[in-house]
Amino acid sequence: MAEKEFKKRILCIGAGYVGGPTMAMIAQKCPQYEITIVDINAARIDAWQTDDLPIYEPGLLEVVKLVRGKNLFFSTDIDSNIKKADIIFVSVNTPTKTYGEGEGKAADLQFWEKTARSIMNASESDKIIIEKSTLPVRTAYAMERILNVNTKGIHFDILSNPEFLAEGSAIKDLENPDRVLIGSRETASGIKARNEVVDIYANWIPRNKILTSNLWSAELSKLVANAFLAQRISSINSISALCEKTEANISEVSNAIGTDSRIGNKFLNASVGFGGSCFKKDILNLVYICESYGLHEVARYWESVVKINSYQEKRFVKNMITLMFNTVSGKNVALFGFAFKANTGDTRESPAIYVARHLINEHAKLTITDPKAIGNAKEELKPYLKEDISSVQFTENPYEAAKDAHAIAILTEWNEYRDLDYKKIFELMEKPAFIFDGRDILDHEKLFKIGFNVSAIGKPLMKHF
Ligand code: UDX
Ligand code: UDX
Repeated sequence: MAEKEFKKRILCIGAGYVGGPTMAMIAQKCPQYEITIVDINAARIDAWQTDDLPIYEPGLLEVVKLVRGKNLFFSTDIDSNIKKADIIFVSVNTPTKTYGEGEGKAADLQFWEKTARSIMNASESDKIIIEKSTLPVRTAYAMERILNVNTKGIHFDILSNPEFLAEGSAIKDLENPDRVLIGSRETASGIKARNEVVDIYANWIPRNKILTSNLWSAELSKLVANAFLAQRISSINSISALCEKTEANISEVSNAIGTDSRIGNKFLNASVGFGGSCFKKDILNLVYICESYGLHEVARYWESVVKINSYQEKRFVKNMITLMFNTVSGKNVALFGFAFKANTGDTRESPAIYVARHLINEHAKLTITDPKAIGNAKEELKPYLKEDISSVQFTENPYEAAKDAHAIAILTEWNEYRDLDYKKIFELMEKPAFIFDGRDILDHEKLFKIGFNVSAIGKPLMKHF
């Protein structure tokens, strides 16, 4: 491809859930830019070049196929691509620290910092560096100091352009986002850099949806958006516990409060708990930042969102065991769904992990079914299955999973679980047969009439004994 054909060269470091789909969308909407995605993981880069992409996302393969080899490229050659790039998005992972100061809460910035150093070492010209990864507020300040101490006279503008896409709807969210947020230093150079990034998104997003702000507001807004979303789930989940005690019905309560336009009806589905790579990590990160500024009351407030989530997972399993006559030892339990939510194969922080581990500890025999997440489920459970691998089976067929089961637990809200032939499933199961609906997606009255004992989050218990 002749070099001058492209207006600018964009590089993305980190070919994950965020970097991959975001760059594919930019490539599709901006044929005038050459976009390369690099990653240290060669297997991942190879997979991006096949039709078996490393992540599952509805509509993603179609977009990738349109642009791959035209203006979207994949590579493991990080340094030479840094050299060529005008604009660099960084979307390497920023997991929770598992060691040292801030262990279990603070973001582990080692990959970010290593990436910044690679950028500094390989660069030969001025560049715009964009934080796509979720980072603690004021990380850009550290990055500026690392990058701009170079002795080559190169100037770097650091911007924050947090990603708000949700997994399973990434392509839709990227194509038609509620907003795009771009934060920069409010200097002449910072604003110029910000406008360059605004110009990229303006190729398909109306200008009034492209918000600009100072750097720190952009960094903080990402954490706060996730904290607010998670807080709504913990709020409704806390009320689900009260519903179970009072014969109120959580779906009716959600509906009643959600019709108040000030509250709104989204993110009010009670569940076995929220999962995913972001919510817990980002809230703990927020908690850590508050603590480090001495804002202990604020830290405790947000920490309670995570605590209620763990409580909800524990409550769910405890309830299963109690109802199944206080023991699941030797019993077959089918887990319907392992992904942290529907339409994704991602299992990071999935509540199913806690539920599975706890049931394994109680010596239950698990059969796990999921349309997309079996591979990841095996990986997640590997550390807990060292001795007794036979206690867990995997199948994509829910009917097979239900065969001889004493109980089914619905852990992911996959649509396919709504329309199964539950009469047939009931016949395949041991009696008394239990269904624990951790996502409130089934017709509980109908199941009860078939003969199931039904326990659903935030709903009155229905049992035949
Ligand atoms: C990541 C962060 O986890 C999240 O905080 C942020 O909001 C967006 O970026 P995600 O894309 O889901 O989210 O992460 P992941 O799928 O783990 O992808 C990160 C990629 O970066 C991996 O493929 C990893 O190999 C790569 N990486 C990591 C590098 O290329 N270089 C590194 O030094 C570290
Ligand atoms: C989230 C944010 O939505 C997104 O903006 C951000 O960029 C990354 O984090 P994601 O983790 O992909 O996205 O999934 P999301 O749809 O937000 O769901 C998170 C978890 O909450 C899932 O486990 C989901 O099942 C659960 N959830 C969601 C509920 O339990 N109830 C609800 O009402 C909504």
